[in-house]
Amino acid sequence: MSDLFTSLEVCPDDPILQLMVRARNDTNPLKVDLSVGIYKNYVGKTPVMNCVKAAEKRRTDQEDSKAYLGLAGDLRFNKLVTELALGANHSANSDGRVSTIQTTGGSGAIRIASELIKRIKPGTKVWVSNPTWANHIPILKSAGLEIATYSYYQPGERGVRFAEMMQELSGAQHGDVILLQGSCHNPCGEDLSLEQWWLLTNFVLEKGLLPFVDIAYHGLSQDLDQDSLGWRHMAASVPEMLICYSGSKNFSLYRDRVGVLISVSPDQNSAHILLTNMMSISRVVYSLPPAHGGYLVAEILEDFELRQMWMSELDQIRLRINTMRTDLADALLQRLNSDRFEFIRDQQGMFSFLGISAEQVLSMRESHGIYLLNSSRINIAGITSTNLEHIADAVASVI
Ligand code: LMR
Repeated sequence: MSDLFTSLEVCPDDPILQLMVRARNDTNPLKVDLSVGIYKNYVGKTPVMNCVKAAEKRRTDQEDSKAYLGLAGDLRFNKLVTELALGANHSANSDGRVSTIQTTGGSGAIRIASELIKRIKPGTKVWVSNPTWANHIPILKSAGLEIATYSYYQPGERGVRFAEMMQELSGAQHGDVILLQGSCHNPCGEDLSLEQWWLLTNFVLEKGLLPFVDIAYHGLSQDLDQDSLGWRHMAASVPEMLICYSGSKNFSLYRDRVGVLISVSPDQNSAHILLTNMMSISRVVYSLPPAHGGYLVAEILEDFELRQMWMSELDQIRLRINTMRTDLADALLQRLNSDRFEFIRDQQGMFSFLGISAEQVLSMRESHGIYLLNSSRINIAGITSTNLEHIADAVASVI
């Protein structure tokens, strides 16, 4: 009889997903879940977008096979998402230096990219912002990569600590990787300005670093074009780059796990080599990607009417999040008669830190039924006009 299983220890709960489940199971009628980064509408629901519903109907009507896709996934989807991320006429794309594979969401892309970096050079150092998404470091470490952090943002402040970031990054060595986020930084909501993207581009060129850009919220900051100016400039300027793109948030396809991994290579031959490596890693990690979400995104992006519908639904999502930012900042200003929380008004995307202590976070949860991460990150998209006053009262009472 084997006794292998008994040698295992219990794993700690996931810092984000366990709160989502706890909030779901909470019977308090006043509960508010501001934990996991998922869009909710004005009544607190995560609806299927109308463009997605329409594409799903087409799929049901037209699909005539469930045969495997190839290892790179749905090639139509890959082409359209690459154009969405880089722009239809991006120089790297038209030079044939871009390779794309479909992945199981943005996290799947980060995992494949991590394995790719390991294959190129085991133990490569990856520079990660402090703070960063709670799952970045675990995924990178699971591929045996070394982690270094650079200062990026301090909860409760405004703006990126760019001077400190660059000072710390000056310790990076040729061949190190720098992980950046495209727009709507998770968890802090503070993005690099265009000027900072330009400076960073020159910096990675001078130092010979590999930029690795995680794009999970394209279109949720300003709009699809504005949001992408920084990373598109970088992709046009550097010889090599990795991009992970998630369709979870901007197509509201969370559980359908939609994403791509894009590589930019110095020439067509390396692009081909990269593609074969990305596919062979996918083969041993999860074999082939699932088809459903990729089909929907491709259908939406290719069809003029569905694309217009999507862009207008995306506008509404962004508008609602920004309205909730303003309303929360107003409500806190009114209660506290202080500008302490004004940064919430100006930040981007779904997340902001409240900048309160772990005890105060606990008190928000236990005394008021409001779930936020221990780091004090809140999901702005979980705020509605119905729960806004309750949230603002709770913040005012715990600080
Ligand atoms: C989040 O940060 O809450 C989301 O990206 C969901 C996740 O998988 O962590």
